[in-house]
Amino acid sequence: MAVVSAARRTRKAPHSGFKMQTKTFPFPLARVLELEKKTPTPFHVYDAAAILRRARALNEAFAWAPGYRNHFAVKALPNPAILELLKAERSGADCSSMAELVLAERAGLRGEDVVFTSNDTPAEEFRRAAKMGAIVNFDDITHIPFARRALGGRLPEMVCCRWNPGVLKDGNAIIGKPEEAKYGFTREQLFEGFRDLRDGGAKRFGLHAMVASNERSAPYFVETARLLFELASEISATLGIEFSFIDIGGGFGIPYRLGEEDLDLRAVGEGVRRAADEVFTRNGRPIPRLATECGRYVTGPCGWLVSRVLHVKRTYRNYAGLDACMADLMRPAMYGAYHHITVFGKEDAPADEIYDVTGALCENNDKFAVERPLPRLEPGDMLAIHDTGAHGHAMGFNYNGKLRHAEWLLMPDGENRLIRRAETLDDLFATLVPPVRVRDSMQGGAPERNAP
Ligand SMILES: Cc1ncc(COP(=O)(O)O)c(C=O)c1O
Repeated sequence: MAVVSAARRTRKAPHSGFKMQTKTFPFPLARVLELEKKTPTPFHVYDAAAILRRARALNEAFAWAPGYRNHFAVKALPNPAILELLKAERSGADCSSMAELVLAERAGLRGEDVVFTSNDTPAEEFRRAAKMGAIVNFDDITHIPFARRALGGRLPEMVCCRWNPGVLKDGNAIIGKPEEAKYGFTREQLFEGFRDLRDGGAKRFGLHAMVASNERSAPYFVETARLLFELASEISATLGIEFSFIDIGGGFGIPYRLGEEDLDLRAVGEGVRRAADEVFTRNGRPIPRLATECGRYVTGPCGWLVSRVLHVKRTYRNYAGLDACMADLMRPAMYGAYHHITVFGKEDAPADEIYDVTGALCENNDKFAVERPLPRLEPGDMLAIHDTGAHGHAMGFNYNGKLRHAEWLLMPDGENRLIRRAETLDDLFATLVPPVRVRDSMQGGAPERNAP
């Protein structure tokens, strides 16, 4: 599959002579140009076979755990085609909103295939999740009476609570420190909350935590799981309830930069197995069904944002202006996140110029890369921004009236399937009252990008 190599010589090239790690694109430029005829750049490409391989790797790491499932975090790549694809690897869904619940349902996920992990939750979302038979994961102790009222006095049979371990765990730049994060119950609140749930008629119980994002340290996840197991045991002993479900969250990281180590999934699975044996099996208790809710780990490295250079501007710095912008991929501007960039046809050219790679938004942080060594760029160059398969298109928005781009899924049989068309100006204006129709307001000549 390696067609576009990201290895290139930089000006200083300290490692010239070694084979550099590469990042790849799943098909040749000629096929990219075919797609561009149908959906002008920018657009996303996802690789279905690679997504399935990563979902399978999770299943293999937790093969020892009875009933283990990854509930794919729908927010990472909210497209029913992806949810349907992942069913081949027994993935369920982790949903955080009405739209995500509806998408999961459209993809044929039902009942406890779905975990509903929300925060600041509206009543209608609790109603929808309960109607689907989803595992309702409460974010706060006050949500228990709120949901009970929303559900006409009856709690769902299967309930879960989200623990925020506070100072017991470090967080990171994306998710923040647990004690400063808005999510989850304190330890004391969990005892009170589960008592309330038990007394209110809930029959089956789950415990959840999600305290890291894009974390690549295996011991971090093992420690989180152990803390969850120990806490579940304590709550069981105090309240006389058994836990049938423990969700150790998502946040499994990926190497965005060349040379970064991948998360050692086997070490995570093995470490969690040892912790489960020590806390449950040795004390004569069954291991609860384990779950993860990984999004990024599954689809992150399997997506690329494809874009063309529109302008090259040389002022105090060199600026390469793309036809994509931060509204197409927000992570670099929002978190300072690194995404590798490969220029088609210049894979082996020396990266001997330094560029800020920008979009067109009226915001100076609309940059995909800052002071990045790249080969000399020209208007018209086609490039791929790597590792955009999670929290990429999903975080898109419409500032400056930017239209959301199309998504293609490369199927395992080699066919490219359009799984989302590009937005049109009519889509964008559809909520205006009275409506504005683009055709009515045009004096000949269609708007260029993604126009109807
Ligand atoms: C509750 C919850 N679960 C799962 C995820 C997915 O995280 P990731 O894609 O890093 O695995 C998120 C991310 O925001 C989250 O908030």
